[in-house]
Amino acid sequence: MHHPGANDVKAYRAIEKFVAQGKIRSIGLSNWYIEEIDDFIAQISVMPALIQNEIHPYYQEQAVVPYMHRLGIVMQAWYPLGGRGHTGALLSDSTITSIARAYGVSSAQVILRWHLQRGVVAIPGSSNPEHIRENIALFDFALTDEEMRAIAALDRNEKHDWY
Ligand SMILES: NC(=O)c1ccc[n+]([C@@H]2O[C@H](COP(=O)([O-])OP(=O)(O)OC[C@H]3O[C@@H](n4cnc5c(N)ncnc54)[C@H](OP(=O)(O)O)[C@@H]3O)[C@@H](O)[C@H]2O)c1
Repeated sequence: MHHPGANDVKAYRAIEKFVAQGKIRSIGLSNWYIEEIDDFIAQISVMPALIQNEIHPYYQEQAVVPYMHRLGIVMQAWYPLGGRGHTGALLSDSTITSIARAYGVSSAQVILRWHLQRGVVAIPGSSNPEHIRENIALFDFALTDEEMRAIAALDRNEKHDWY
């Protein structure tokens, strides 16, 4: 659900009834931004638990992430590695590859660790068993504040898809 209009509020209120009945535990939204959230939450009673937006080092949502976090909403990244068909530039970005070399990990692991340390839940997609194993092996290294800042500086408002 995105871009709230009267129908979105109506649909959300219908879903809220399932929460009240104990049929579902939480409600999530996707592709929601600062401009629409305040207006929306004024009209509903169950806070969205999570918002899933496009987020990766070239499209970081530097305003949206802390804004939603302050509201107590979990932020989740779709296209956390840039998205299928768009990962090439990100995985070979020299800032990312040099950090990866320093820890003996892959570029994908550096990017996923960056999401984790920002408090963003990443849902990387992969059909390669080795990649899948790699994508959950993120807990043996940590990025320094300086490395986090270096990746933050890669933001270039480069959205890879629209939904
Ligand atoms: N809410 C929305 O509007 C919305 C929109 C788009 C997507 N999504 C969701 O977001 C999720 C992620 O989308 P996505 O899979 O396209 O994005 P992604 O995770 O950013 O990119 C997936 C691509 O990265 C490659 N990859 C994964 N792990 C890798 C690794 N360790 N090393 C090298 N390459 C690696 C994959 O290839 P291999 O298969 O070869 O590993 C695949 O080509 C999906 O669940 C999708 O449904 C939601």
